[in-house]
Amino acid sequence: MDFSIKTFDGKNAIAQFKSGCIAVGIFEDGKLSEPAAALDTARVISNAVKSGDISGKAGTTLLLRQTGAAAQRILLVGLGRQGALASKDFSSAAQAIARAFSTLGASDALIALPLDAIKDRDAAWCLRSLVGALRDNIYRFDQLKSRKESATSGVRKVAFAVPTAMASAARTTITQAAAIADGMDLTKTLGNLPANICTPTYLATTARKLGDEFAMAVEVLDRKQIQALKMASFLSVTNGTVEPPKFIVIRHMGGKAKDAPVVLVGKGITFDTGGISLKPGAGMDEMKYDMCGAASVLGTMRAVGRMKLKLNVIAVIPSCENMPSGTATRPGDIVTSMSGQTIEILNTDAEGRLILCDALTYVERFKPAAVVDVATLTGACITALGHHNSGLFTRHDADHDALADELLVAGRATGDTAWRMPIEDSYQEQLKSNFADMANIGGPPAGSITAACFLERYTRKYTWAHLDIAGTAWKSGAAKGATGRPVPLLTTFLINRAAK
Ligand code: BES
Ligand code: MN
Ligand code: ZN
Repeated sequence: MDFSIKTFDGKNAIAQFKSGCIAVGIFEDGKLSEPAAALDTARVISNAVKSGDISGKAGTTLLLRQTGAAAQRILLVGLGRQGALASKDFSSAAQAIARAFSTLGASDALIALPLDAIKDRDAAWCLRSLVGALRDNIYRFDQLKSRKESATSGVRKVAFAVPTAMASAARTTITQAAAIADGMDLTKTLGNLPANICTPTYLATTARKLGDEFAMAVEVLDRKQIQALKMASFLSVTNGTVEPPKFIVIRHMGGKAKDAPVVLVGKGITFDTGGISLKPGAGMDEMKYDMCGAASVLGTMRAVGRMKLKLNVIAVIPSCENMPSGTATRPGDIVTSMSGQTIEILNTDAEGRLILCDALTYVERFKPAAVVDVATLTGACITALGHHNSGLFTRHDADHDALADELLVAGRATGDTAWRMPIEDSYQEQLKSNFADMANIGGPPAGSITAACFLERYTRKYTWAHLDIAGTAWKSGAAKGATGRPVPLLTTFLINRAAK
């Protein structure tokens, strides 16, 4: 989908604009938004509103084919109550436009919505929601169906009407939003691919392709090299599978050579059976999504590459499969992590932390400005926060509060929100082991917090944050599928860092 910016100065210029369709907003009291009024030269719009065919309720639409203007069609979009426009009203309007556009006979369109009408949201936010909704609507995962669902009609070229003074900022915004959408597409597709296709080797190949496309250096370490690094905690998770593990490193050096990089670490369990601590059968297919941390890091690197972001960003992905077998790790086994700390593996289903801890030790060598790990780490995080917010964990000092705020702000700016959770010594006590430095589980209470506390023990040499995306990375039920989160949060966090 192609996006561009159009400016209109004269009041009636929009009525002369040639397009397959112009989308304009109307409010619940039947009042026309400014662009709608400018387009209403033949009173076609006001008559349609008067007829009662459209209420103006947020998310409603009405398509007019006799326009009285140069455009072939006008799409009236309900925005909700004027003066009290909520961001969710704008989002539902954006989604309604996206749905309507996807079935139109027209291939090009203009969206002329008021971009300054929402409390606490700026024009950039409005443009991002529109690009996000339009791109999400046309995403399809049909590569494994013999009959493709790919649309034959629908709008392919979308222009946004903005005031002249905003044009250049708006161009930057849509370029960034399209890059984020490209990243999310990759993240969704990797998540949706089944574990017999999306293996650690497949993730490594994907990383290499990104490297070729965007001139990023890519390193893929195999089992022997992982052994040489003494990552026995990571390797313990691979004991039950014949699928070769991969440790993937991607470097985007868009900043100054001496600038400390931001490091993103993504959990890449391509399938999580639980191992010997086997998961129940119902819904186990969803554990193909257990590499969504890795997928969101790869998606973010794609967005970073597309934008040629002026920042040093390194992606690190430990990837393997968690399977039971005669050679699998047993509950009670003790391993020595790369950091030297020993771990009693009381539950082989708490495997994410076992691969992440070694990756978090490995990244010390980059002397990072900050490290953010991303993982579908705990079912407990879904219990705590549901599917709305990712769990955000850091230590609690000035440095980490600042990093946490950067991530929270990036989340709010994109609707890809996170919620901060505590890391405290009182929870650390739950990880006590009688036989090793720590256990890999902390018992039923506060499961997502004890998981974060485990990781915290491997991150004391740098500023670090952990995102638990178990509830946000995919949807279950009829609309089962990967969401592409938290690519918007991560990418926006990096954009903001690059601008600092
Ligand atoms: N990948 C799972 C976490 C998960 C579960 C994500 C359900 C999304 C939906 C993780 O490896 C896991 O199994 N965690 C265990 C930890 C427990 C054994 C301490 C869990 O959450 O049950
Ligand atoms: Mn598990
Ligand atoms: Zn897992």
